[in-house]
Amino acid sequence: MNESTLKTPMIKMIPIFIMGQKYEVPAELTIMKAMEYAGYKFIRGCGCRGGICGACSTVYRKPGDYKIHTGLACQTVIEPEMYLTQLPFYPALKATYDVSTMQGIATEIFEAYPELFRCVACNACTKVCPMDVKVMDYIAYLKRGDIEAAARASFDCIQCGLCASRCMGELPQYHIAQMARRLWGAKLTPRAQHLAEMVLKIEQGLFGELIAKLETTDTAELKKLYNAREMEPAMSRNEWKPSKDNVGLR
Ligand code: FES
Repeated sequence: MNESTLKTPMIKMIPIFIMGQKYEVPAELTIMKAMEYAGYKFIRGCGCRGGICGACSTVYRKPGDYKIHTGLACQTVIEPEMYLTQLPFYPALKATYDVSTMQGIATEIFEAYPELFRCVACNACTKVCPMDVKVMDYIAYLKRGDIEAAARASFDCIQCGLCASRCMGELPQYHIAQMARRLWGAKLTPRAQHLAEMVLKIEQGLFGELIAKLETTDTAELKKLYNAREMEPAMSRNEWKPSKDNVGLR
């Protein structure tokens, strides 16, 4: 091994400002890792670290750029001289409702969130969304009563609340969309026939023996069975079914 291979590679450091305080941190880190490098310890504002939970909303500005930028701290790579602060929670009114007593009609959403009609279609919500959800579009779908379109359009929402933080009409868009998805899932999607058939079979006791066996199986054995189960492929174009002899416990 020659001397050059033993040398620690030079790490390029760049300045960033976290809540107004300047830090030198390694370039190419995400905002979250840069904050940890700078000494911050997350007890809020961090969850999955994978861009899914919506806990790490961050706002920042870049030098010479008038725009406010937003992103998820766990996904956004730092840039030199950026000024940032986290926004792990944004206050937004959340309606109380019981989906089980509802019919799945648009007026139920209008009653829970009358502010829906304060939308002025400025599109600031869509521009700020770190998941590229067309927020203004799903609000427009709801205004015309199309719950399914709103539920589908908002499916990738991670409830970070950044849309509400920029809304001129003071809408809690993400809570409204969540209600739409709940109503759509509970009241509007067709029931799966095969699921109903399977529930009926369970109620008729077809799997009683297997269930009783599972209930008396110890945890280690259950883990073994679980890990050995036949799994649906992560990517497949074809319809997948478990092999016949692998349905249930053997
Ligand atoms: S920590 Fe979950 S989205 Fe960033």
